[in-house]
Amino acid sequence: MEIKRKKVKELLSMEPGAEVLAKGWVRTKRGNKQVKFIALGDGSTINNIQIVADTALFDEELLKKVTTGASLSVRGKLVESIGSGQAVEISASRIEVLGECDPMRFPLQKKDTTLEYLRSVAHMRLRTNTFGAVLRIRHAMAFAIHSFFNSKGFVYLHTPLITESDAEGAGDMFQVTTLDLANVPVHGGKVDFSKDFFGKKTSLTVSGQLEGELGATAVGEIYTFGPTFRAENSNTPRHLAEFWMIEPEMAFYDIEDNMELAEEFVKFLVKYALDNCADDLKFLNDKYDEGLVERLQGVLSTTFERVTYTRAVEILEKAVADGVKFEYPVHWGTDFQSEHERYLVEKYFGKPVILIDFPKDIKAFYMKQNEDGRTVRGMDVLFPKIGEIIGGSEREADLGKLERRIDELGMSRKNLEWYIDTRRYGTVPHSGFGLGFERLLLFVTGMANIRDVIPFPRTPKNAEF
Ligand code: 4AD
Ligand code: MG
Repeated sequence: MEIKRKKVKELLSMEPGAEVLAKGWVRTKRGNKQVKFIALGDGSTINNIQIVADTALFDEELLKKVTTGASLSVRGKLVESIGSGQAVEISASRIEVLGECDPMRFPLQKKDTTLEYLRSVAHMRLRTNTFGAVLRIRHAMAFAIHSFFNSKGFVYLHTPLITESDAEGAGDMFQVTTLDLANVPVHGGKVDFSKDFFGKKTSLTVSGQLEGELGATAVGEIYTFGPTFRAENSNTPRHLAEFWMIEPEMAFYDIEDNMELAEEFVKFLVKYALDNCADDLKFLNDKYDEGLVERLQGVLSTTFERVTYTRAVEILEKAVADGVKFEYPVHWGTDFQSEHERYLVEKYFGKPVILIDFPKDIKAFYMKQNEDGRTVRGMDVLFPKIGEIIGGSEREADLGKLERRIDELGMSRKNLEWYIDTRRYGTVPHSGFGLGFERLLLFVTGMANIRDVIPFPRTPKNAEF
């Protein structure tokens, strides 16, 4: 009689005794003339189930096909394991090779498992233990994000991916067009976008925030969670051209409420990972980053330090005077580099830091202006090993001030009329922030390169698959 397959995760938690059916990929095979031990994994957990095959019961040719990477269906009895490392194993009565895997050509050999090498076989790397762990944690974090906001009554708002607005005003946008690039229509010396698909110039979004504000000033509290595109030519371990961002936006929140929510949010996610991804975290901790679990626990038991930009500059200037060497100079008015952020977090405060009150000239037009006329109510959350993982602010709710800032920056008010309407009709104080999903994952998985926490990374000169 056929029985239903059980996933490895479930099998490992069962009592011995049952007749079971397992399916998966061979991780390793070892043994001797009498008996073979096959570690079988199916991606449901970092752990494998051990298959014990008495060679007297199986055709030699069949067992030869059981090589690393091959896929199997195995039936047998779940028995108590005498070997160390697992409570139960399967004493096999039937083994079927579903798909062979040529050991000479299989790209995932034991010897070549550096992360750099795996990036060169990115289509297969998902099969490794490392990427299995990263993918499960990535899923768990996405699930936890929805669960967090749902429990607080936030509405998940779908903001457009194709847009005409450059929310951050940084100009790093990928254009979207159906025009024939070899024969672009021109009118008065300029590209005639009226001939383009949307009848105007459009791009992929750099942020859903501005549309998010329309949602928040309608239903109160929203969040977005979607892909975000930036054509910045930054080849760093922390930048992707396509990344995922979570952007909550809340009516009636000031900057204090905003900071409180950001801290609660990140702590919730870290705790969720510790509670639900323990096996995967332990694997990554042991293999790549011995301090990982401790660092995650550390975040939960600490209160993030809140520091103004101006005070942070003083700290950094003092550090330089005391002999600390930074690659980039720092003085009031400069945007911090990640070396500065990491100095503050790792060396000076020894905990996550929320920086507030930035010079207005290094931040976007929509941030609430402080009384001093020089700074705005922005906030960046900085984390150990990564630097900025969250950027946000209280928004300028005053119509006149917002319009003046748009003009000052030489931006087009006409294109932003829809946004300015939120301040014209029933304006309210409101705030929000954006969490870089992959930056969060860098922190939670302990991986050092952002290309290793997204299944199909897009970076300058790299868009495989
Ligand atoms: O600081 P940013 O640019 O803020 C915004 O986009 C605001 N509209 C957010 C808001 O207030 N709703 O980006 C937010 C976060 C950063 O802190 C960083 O974690 C991540 O997005 N991020 C990137 N992650 C990967 N690759 C890139 N190129 C990124 N650029 C930003
Ligand atoms: Mg930022």
